[in-house]
Amino acid sequence: MNMKAVVLAVATILVASQCHGSEYEFYPLELRSDGLTVHYPPEVWCPSWRLAAEAHNYINWKTVPQKCAEYVESYIQGDQYDSDSKYVNQQAYFFAKSIKRNENDVFIFSVDGTVLSNVPYYSKHGYGVNPYNATVYDAWVLKGEAPALAQTLKNYNNLLSLGFKIVFLTGRTVDKKAVTEANLKEAGFHTWEKLILKDPIAYNGQNAASYKAAERKKLTKEGWRIVGNIGDQWSDITGRNVGLRTFKLPNPMYFIA
Ligand SMILES: *[C@@H]1O[C@H](CO)[C@@H](O)[C@H](O)[C@H]1NC(C)=O
Ligand SMILES: [Mg+2]
Repeated sequence: MNMKAVVLAVATILVASQCHGSEYEFYPLELRSDGLTVHYPPEVWCPSWRLAAEAHNYINWKTVPQKCAEYVESYIQGDQYDSDSKYVNQQAYFFAKSIKRNENDVFIFSVDGTVLSNVPYYSKHGYGVNPYNATVYDAWVLKGEAPALAQTLKNYNNLLSLGFKIVFLTGRTVDKKAVTEANLKEAGFHTWEKLILKDPIAYNGQNAASYKAAERKKLTKEGWRIVGNIGDQWSDITGRNVGLRTFKLPNPMYFIA
C-alpha cells in the first residue's frame, strides 16, 4: 500500500467513527418479544410506533415502549400534541358548520383525554410506560383537578354557539358522577345535555367499546341524532351508532379496548 492509500484509509475510518459519535446513537438489531426486529433508533422508530397506534394499526397495547418514554414526553409537553388536537377539533367544527342542524342533534365527547387532561397524572407515572394502576389513577380522578384540554374546550364552545347539544360519554363509573360534574364545570365545560357514566353492574365484563356502543344506541332510540363523536380512543368511535362522523384525538399514552 502506498502512502496515499494509507492516509485515505485512516481518514475514512476517522470520519466513519465520528458519524457514530454523539449525534447518532447506534442501536444493534434488537429482537423483541413479539419476534419483530427493530433496527431504527428511537427518534425514527417511535414516531412510526405512534402513527401505527393512532391509526389503529397497532392495537391492544398495554404500555408505551420503554425506549419511547422521552419521545412521548416531548410529544405531549411540546407543541405537537396541542397542534394535532387543534387540527382534529377544527375538522369537527368545520363538519358541524356544514350540517343543517336539527333540534335533536348532539355531539358526543369522551371525557378523559378528550375534554379533561390526565397529563398531570401521566407526567408523574412515566407517560404510559408504567403499567396502568387503577388504584392510583382513581385517586387522581377523585381529586377532581383535571384541567381542560384547551383545543377541545374551544371546539366545545364553538359547537354550543352553533346550537349543538353536548353529550359526555365516559368510562368513569357512576360513583364518580359528582366529582366529574364538578371537575367539568371547574375546567370550563359549563353545560351539557347528558353526562353518561358507566354502570359497573349493568356493564359487568363488557369493554369500553361495547358499553359506549350500547349507550349510543340508547341515545338514538331516544330520538337523538349523533352528528359528531369525538374521542381519544378508538373504542369511543367504533362499533354501532357512531354518528355521522367520528374524530380521533391523539393519545399515545394508553390504549383502551
Ligand atoms: C398500585 O400502586 C399502589 C401504590 O403505589 C401499590 O401499592 C399497588 O401494589 C399497585 N398495584 C398494582 C396492581 O401494581
Ligand atoms: Mg377518553
